[in-house]
Amino acid sequence: MHFLSQHKDIQQKLREEVVPILKQAYETNHPITLEQFESNFEYTKAVINETLRLRSPAFAVARQAKEDVTLQGSDGTKYLVPKDSICVMAFTLANQDPLIWKQDMEEFVPERFLEDHPLHPNLSGVNRYAFQPFNVGPRQCIGRRFAEMEMVLVLAKLIYHFEMIPKKPKEVIPEKIEFTMKPGSPIGVDLKPLTH
Ligand code: HEM
Repeated sequence: MHFLSQHKDIQQKLREEVVPILKQAYETNHPITLEQFESNFEYTKAVINETLRLRSPAFAVARQAKEDVTLQGSDGTKYLVPKDSICVMAFTLANQDPLIWKQDMEEFVPERFLEDHPLHPNLSGVNRYAFQPFNVGPRQCIGRRFAEMEMVLVLAKLIYHFEMIPKKPKEVIPEKIEFTMKPGSPIGVDLKPLTH
């Protein structure tokens, strides 16, 4: 909501995507189906991903090596991880790595998650695991699908019903790192009801 309140144009683009879908759901009294969720909301999903890139609640995870392992960096450099050492995978660093995100890494640009956009990271060219806010592998987030659906549907409803107006335009909210990453100061957004 903070990023959207600060970017009126993105908010409008998002509303153009969600209003027809939600309007039909409200008018026909049919909840959004899984098929509709999968094949729609492309821009809404991009907004969520861009938010997770810039402010990933899980900013890092750690693993302890059970044996000596050699990891290979994307430039071919090899790194020995000795048995018992603890490795921290800092998503927040990868999420703003210029090698992956090309430019404007600190800017909120959801379009970079649309495949035909020039800023699209084309992760296969770098490392397809470079953007993984839920991590991957056997211990990846068990609530991933639930969280993804919840975020998209709650955001769609909010943007359908309200215009988000920042209390302070151009405000930068600092990050606060605890067990998860949180806003370091209150987020001031006014909600103006909309009618359709
Ligand atoms: C935006 C929302 C969320 C993010 C970014 C997130 C991210 C993560 C990450 C990065 C991990 C660690 C994975 C690893 O160590 O490899 C994790 C683990 C976990 N998450 Fe989430 N999560 C989210 C929401 C949820 C929700 C809604 C639930 C439950 C309904 C959930 C349940 C869990 C559980 C149970 C684990 C531990 C899995 C294990 O150790 O086997 N998460 N999550």
